[in-house]
Amino acid sequence: MHGFFDDLTSDEPAAQGSPFPLMPEGEAVDMGTAPDGTPLIDPRIFDSPEFFRNPYPYYRILRDHYPVYHDKLHNCYWVTRYDDITECYFDDEGFNTIPKGSSSGVLGNTQLELSGVEHRRRRNLYGQHLVGKSLQLRVPAIERLARDMIGAWDEAAAAGSEYVIDEGARRTVELGRMFANEFPIRVVCEVLGFPQEAQADFYYWYNSMMSGLGGSETHKQGVEARQHLEDYVEGIVEARRKAPTYLYDKDGNPVGKDIISKLCETRVDGDFLSTEEITSNIALIVGGGGETTRGAIMNLWCLLLRHPDQFAAVLDDESNWDKAFHEMLRHSSSIGGQPRHNTFDIEMHGVHIPAGSLMNMVDFSANHDERIFKDPEKFNIFREDLYSGKLLRSGYRKEGRCSHMAFGVGPHLCPGAWISHQETVVGSKILSATMKNPVIREDKMPRDIDGAGPSPMGIVSVRDLWIEFDKP
Ligand code: HEM
Repeated sequence: MHGFFDDLTSDEPAAQGSPFPLMPEGEAVDMGTAPDGTPLIDPRIFDSPEFFRNPYPYYRILRDHYPVYHDKLHNCYWVTRYDDITECYFDDEGFNTIPKGSSSGVLGNTQLELSGVEHRRRRNLYGQHLVGKSLQLRVPAIERLARDMIGAWDEAAAAGSEYVIDEGARRTVELGRMFANEFPIRVVCEVLGFPQEAQADFYYWYNSMMSGLGGSETHKQGVEARQHLEDYVEGIVEARRKAPTYLYDKDGNPVGKDIISKLCETRVDGDFLSTEEITSNIALIVGGGGETTRGAIMNLWCLLLRHPDQFAAVLDDESNWDKAFHEMLRHSSSIGGQPRHNTFDIEMHGVHIPAGSLMNMVDFSANHDERIFKDPEKFNIFREDLYSGKLLRSGYRKEGRCSHMAFGVGPHLCPGAWISHQETVVGSKILSATMKNPVIREDKMPRDIDGAGPSPMGIVSVRDLWIEFDKP
């Protein structure tokens, strides 16, 4: 639900008959030049495997020559510079999310499509439970869930799982299947207050809803899954209205009510929230919190293990996990960007954009804008131009440091940013305590076209990550 370019796999094969050859990483296909020497862009590139594998050289051409590119093939405008994108995100009257429509029917009537006062009202209802003190109360649950999942590896190895393989003194685990795919959903399930026994159904509904957003074939299944979720949530809501339930710390003491119990007692203008309102909030949290955080965990481990000196620095000083988390999101976030519609006729960089046009804000490109980040294609957790402090809705831009754009900025800034940060960092600390001397099993990872190196991450998050480490 988060944006365009989601839900793609990194090892997508080259399409038969694609007009664009796969280029060495960092280089763009020559699509011709204008008489003045400006490189031309053929918009078919945006649908090509070459682009998904290797988008950054094309974003550079766009930023340098077409900061607002009118793509007549896809009937939209691509906005690629950091400054322009932040400006549009802050101005939610001039650039609104209506009629985004991408979540229609599947997620229900969500705040994604709202702007202004109504948006703020909806967002605050549950957003407050995902930040600050409420979030701190959730950390023990996050830790316990991570330990439970990692603790199950021994049993999986003993049972002959193909994703936990013991060979001599070493163990190989496929991190996606054994951890990252399900962990964020389990966390969301737990903090919302779903009973443990519902987690498997929940995971199924989540997957169906997510694929339902991807296309017409799977749309029906997505809508059905949403209906099942709604029926289930309805029952839970009725039960919680009578008897709220709690989250507990590791010693079993209650630390606060779960989110559903909190929403049940929330009143707006004297009225309790309707079950429909609670359900669509839940569907949105479920939709927002899974794939994104899965991608964050996978990309973080992939990037760190491919930069062993930086991984060593993180193990040496745990406070570096925060820097690594933010640099990973700048370098390779799992969300490409966000669509907006301009409310008025405007002119940007000499391009006339009629009111109501689809404008795609390319967060990926903003994060690689060399006007803001030096050597943007380099992963460097110690870069001096990236802000990695407390996340702010206003963004951060001072003394040569800027926040990345992976969570957006302004009124729609991701309300799950804080909890996904906790999930990724807390989960990774626990993983690193179990996985000693880890290396990527490159022989099991997809290779690049020349076969020489690993396949670039491109526009997507890593699907499978095979990690070998000392058997505990
Ligand atoms: C690394 C993980 C994540 C990334 C990169 C991410 C990214 C984003 C981005 C870029 C937006 C802005 C959308 C816009 O401007 O239109 C957004 C919105 C949103 N995210 Fe996330 N997200 C992540 C994790 C989560 C989690 C864990 C949750 C829930 C627990 C969540 C729930 C939401 C919701 C509900 C919105 C809509 C906010 C609004 O429209 O006001 N996200 N996210």
